[in-house]
Amino acid sequence: MKRTLLSIIITCQLFSCCNQESRLYLDELDLSAMSAGWGEVTACRSVEGNPLTVAGQVYERGVGTHAASTMLLDLKGRAVTFHSFVGIDDESGEKASVEFFVLADGWILWHSGLMHYGDPTRQVKLDVSDVKKLGLYVSDGGDGIGWDHADWLNTQITYNKSAPVPVMPVAAEPYILTPASPEKPRINGPDVYGARHGNPFLYKVPVTGKRPLTCVAENLPDGLNIDQETGIISGSCGSKGDYAVRIRAMNALGSDEKTLLIRIGDTICLTPPMGWNSWNCWGLSVDQQKVQAAVDAMVSSGLADHGWSFINIDDGWEADSRLSSGELPANDKFPDMKALGDHAHRQGLKLGIYSSPGTHTCGGFLGSWEHEEQDTRTWADWGIDYLKYDWCSYERIARDHSLTELQKPYLNMQSALMKIPRDIVFSLCQYGMGEVWQWGATFGGNLWRTTGDIVDTWNSMAGIGFSQDKCAPFTGPGHWNDPDMLVVGKVGWGPSLHPSRLTPDEQYTHISLWCLLSAPLLIGCDLSSLDDFTQNLLTNDEVIAINQDPLGKPAVKVKETSTGQVWAKPLKDGSMAVGLFSTGDRSPAGMFDWEGEARSDTVSVTWEEMGITGARSVRDLWRQKDVGTYNRELKFPVNHHGVMLVRLIETTR
Ligand code: GLA
Repeated sequence: MKRTLLSIIITCQLFSCCNQESRLYLDELDLSAMSAGWGEVTACRSVEGNPLTVAGQVYERGVGTHAASTMLLDLKGRAVTFHSFVGIDDESGEKASVEFFVLADGWILWHSGLMHYGDPTRQVKLDVSDVKKLGLYVSDGGDGIGWDHADWLNTQITYNKSAPVPVMPVAAEPYILTPASPEKPRINGPDVYGARHGNPFLYKVPVTGKRPLTCVAENLPDGLNIDQETGIISGSCGSKGDYAVRIRAMNALGSDEKTLLIRIGDTICLTPPMGWNSWNCWGLSVDQQKVQAAVDAMVSSGLADHGWSFINIDDGWEADSRLSSGELPANDKFPDMKALGDHAHRQGLKLGIYSSPGTHTCGGFLGSWEHEEQDTRTWADWGIDYLKYDWCSYERIARDHSLTELQKPYLNMQSALMKIPRDIVFSLCQYGMGEVWQWGATFGGNLWRTTGDIVDTWNSMAGIGFSQDKCAPFTGPGHWNDPDMLVVGKVGWGPSLHPSRLTPDEQYTHISLWCLLSAPLLIGCDLSSLDDFTQNLLTNDEVIAINQDPLGKPAVKVKETSTGQVWAKPLKDGSMAVGLFSTGDRSPAGMFDWEGEARSDTVSVTWEEMGITGARSVRDLWRQKDVGTYNRELKFPVNHHGVMLVRLIETTR
């Protein structure tokens, strides 16, 4: 009897021990499984690394993230409860608004409703005993991801026996679509190039093909010469006019010919600028060595043979103080800017620089306030060909928030630039304030940023790219909408770099969309460590030709469904470039890959939706292959967040 009682007690204890619930905090899990639209997901800290604080209350435990954010947990059917507080972190701005969702196996279990900056936390307590996979999602509240710093606070899951584990997103393998350039010469680059009369002229004919290679040009205007070995056209042309220059490139395997229209007039940047900028990789850690490495890599990688020509130094190059003359001195980071300019020019490349109209730049370095003319003279002496002119710290000088005050610093810089006997591309960087696309050209802008800064996430890139419709009517030869720089390859905004967090499909979308939008193409990665995928992505001449089309008309959205968008861009030769994009199911459940399988969407568009009639032969631009003749509809399966980019060419029957 005694023994039976003892065994019952032991069995009960064992049973209760086995049934005992354990508790796991979200911040104990591997947070690399959580995605964020900006910044780094951090355990027990906000996304900017501050104590987790909502409506003045500090929380010891939790996870700081940024909309749009997802995390999928495998509960294995062993979890019992999910408990959390949620809120917008006090470090975000007043514009922040998000919505928190908890999903179970594809269904919404709970949502917070729209939350704004300053709102007290909301609590969620759920029985999750039947759930296999639990999704945590923070949406942007429907107004874009800007400012949306979101906190999961004190988030805990109780479970039996087997602890929940995060489902790691499967890293998609990069895949190469574009065939290598032929060994025979092929002349790439735009069909038209603009320069001002009397100023130094520099244009390197971009040619692919086996070296050695020779380049000759007929009908060059007086004052210009071509170096047959390098293909660099230089000199200075005093007479305005259109010159149809016949260019011929030859190597041992054959030759290629093309007419380049050189337009000597008042307008430069007749096609969107293409090049590299230091910001998205090096941030403020930029120095002369890194820029020189970019110049060299632009040439040695062969990118220059596809038309990439600008090497632009962003913020961080400046000295701490001016000379007593007011001039900008050389400094430890950039000991010899003129030598750098000469080096770039010898390779047929151009050098760009950055400044701000205020006393200081965004990075806290010296701005050009009250030194505009002096600075442009210095830059011209250094051989600068491009100026990115920011806004930072000018708001402290501006008298009010009027349009006149928004425009004033750009007017000042425009008039300073006009006094310089040099073609300097003028890039306005004030994030789209005052609808800059409506007036940027009047103030000498060759391009103007239409949005805040891009980062390497789908939400940032797609959020910017797919919202450019509004500015489309204001762009054209000489004047371009700038949805910010490219985030492919190795980026980092500082000394340490990481591969872009965009999936390969998202990177194809990024380049396709920027080309369709006639956007400036400024590579933001380290050029000296280009991988094969990135190199391939940046050297498809048929895709680049869409961007460099001389008509200069950007694509507009012709169709949008719950899972896709179609954008179409008219081209000079009467053909049309069309991007069929999978934007994915944007419902909260659609944010997760519940089954762990590769997803795709069917994207279609009819002739009627595109406003065209008649048969079109269709060319797949990434694969550089004809896919057939169509006369009513395009319909393709497209990888999740990927694109089918085609050119529709009217068939003559
Ligand atoms: C702003 C711009 C960025 C970059 C930084 C430099 O944020 O938008 O592109 O130039 O300044 O500080």
